Formats: sequence, C-alpha cells, structure tokens
Amino acid sequence: MEIITTIDNIRSKVKEWKLQGLSVGFVPTMGYLHEGHISLVNESNKQCDKTIASIFVNPSQFGPNEDFEAYPRDFDRDCSLLEANGCDIVFYPEKNEIYPENFATYINIISDMPKQLCGKSRPIHFQGVCTVVAKLFNIVTPDKAFFGEKDAQQLAIIKKMVADLNIDVKVVPCPIIREEDGLAKSSRNTYLNKEERIAALILSKSIFLGKSLVEKGERNADIILSAMIEMINSEPMAKIDYVDAVDGLTMLKVKNITGTTLFAMAVNIGKTRLIDNFVVEAK
Ligand code: PAJ
Repeated sequence: MEIITTIDNIRSKVKEWKLQGLSVGFVPTMGYLHEGHISLVNESNKQCDKTIASIFVNPSQFGPNEDFEAYPRDFDRDCSLLEANGCDIVFYPEKNEIYPENFATYINIISDMPKQLCGKSRPIHFQGVCTVVAKLFNIVTPDKAFFGEKDAQQLAIIKKMVADLNIDVKVVPCPIIREEDGLAKSSRNTYLNKEERIAALILSKSIFLGKSLVEKGERNADIILSAMIEMINSEPMAKIDYVDAVDGLTMLKVKNITGTTLFAMAVNIGKTRLIDNFVVEAK
C-alpha cells in the first residue's frame, strides 16, 4: 500500500490507473479506523479495481467547542488495518494541502436539510463535510465513493450535493456495523469509560425497540419515538440531543411512516456525543 500526501501525486496515480482502464473506489475517513470503515474498504474492493482511502481530520466540520483537537488519531495502526484489507493507496494530506492560506470557498446546501437533526446543535458541520468531500472528490476523481449509513444525514446530504453539482461519482451506501452487543461502531467510542460504555448501549437498545414496533405494524412516528425516548431516559447517564423521525430525502420531520423514513438520534453519554439510526421503507 502506498501512502500519498500531496494532491499532485494522487492525481497522477489515478490518471495512470484510468489510462489502464481500472475503476477507482474511494473511502473518505477521519481515521482511527474500525470495522465500520473497513466494511467500506471491503465493499470498494468488491466493486472497484482499485481502492483509495483518505485519512484527514477535517477542521472545517468541527464547531469551536467540539473535539477537533481531541479527536483520536493513530496513523500507523490505520495503515496496518488498511493494508491488511487490500487498500491500494492511503491519501493522508496535511491541513495546508487541503486548506491553504486564504482558502475561501465553501459548499452550502441552502435547503432545510442540513439544519435538521445534527445540524441543530452543529450548525457549520455539514458545510465543512460538503466542502471537504467535494474537494476530495475533485482530487481523487473516483468512480464510486463509499459512505456508511451510520451517518445517515451526512449520506443524504452528500447524495444531494453530488446530484445538484453533477459530480461524476456514484455514492454507494453501506450498512451500519455494530459491536457484538449492539453499539454502533464509532471512532468516538474510545472516549467512553467502562460505565459509559455500558450506558451507551441504550442507543442501540432503543433503535432495536423502535424497529420492533415498526415490524409489529406501528406507523405512527410519535408513538414509536415516545417509546424510544422513554427507554433512553431510563438511563441516568444519557442526555438526549435529539430523537426524530424524518423523511429520508428532505430530513424534515414526519408524523406517519410513509415512503422512506429515517429514525435518527444523537445522545450524549457523559461528554461523548453518539449517534445511531434506522431506516424504514414503508410499502
Ligand atoms: P468518519 O467518521 O471517519 O467516517 C468515515 C466513513 O465511515 C463514513 O462514511 C461513516 O458513515 C462510515 N462509518 C463510520 N462508522 C460506521 C459504522 N459503524 N458502520 C458503517 N459505516 C461507518 O464521516 C466522516 O468520517 C467524515 O465526515 C468525512 C466523510 C470523512 C468527511 O470529513
């Protein structure tokens, strides 16, 4: 596996591959990789001839009081994991390579979409995500890019950006990978102490409860949300940021499940903000 840090070098490598007729899959990440990230690499390997993963903790998607500085980093371990899983190139740019001095262009979706769910408590987050992902798409020019359904709002927003800006990349959604006990895998799980790790199970438990109510035929979103919220509130260490049912495309709240409905939550366990979700495709 090759480690590439400059835009020029990644561009010439990709050009070489494309001249050979090889397809390129791309997995953007912020590193501190786990099986969730690796599942995206595996899917890219399945669907494409070559796989590039990027590791870049993107400052523009973190708010002033968020965990940019504290965000976990372990480049050597990440490289071993990527190499063992058949990744061809890791793109590992410095901050200045992506945001040189006087950088001034940002991508903003101006609908309500980025203002819902995580956007309420993270107002600049999706502007930062869209900007860095658009830049990475322009740098890497992949045929396909792989994103986790774990970050469902991010996935919907990136699909929207790609459609609106006619970016020539196919966005491929990949399912949420969980720990054996149900907790969705996340780089931020490392912040949890022993008690918090146990308390954090309340997220996936309430996800499974919500899902089971839907499977039993419940279609009233408020009834499902109330049951989920009651369960989360039974855990003293959990503090809800939001638990909402929204339309899968617009991210606007829905009362009843029709079409694609996303049940999504952000819950603080101690100082750690965790997210989880499930999607219902109503027939
Ligand atoms: P990061 O949180 O590192 O996640 C990188 C990719 O891994 C995202 O597509 C995310 O949805 C996926 N992922 C994380 N946990 C997962 C899990 N448990 N199961 C399946 N997929 C999972 O998301 C970002 O980085 C950044 O916002 C980024 C897109 C790289 C832009 O900076």
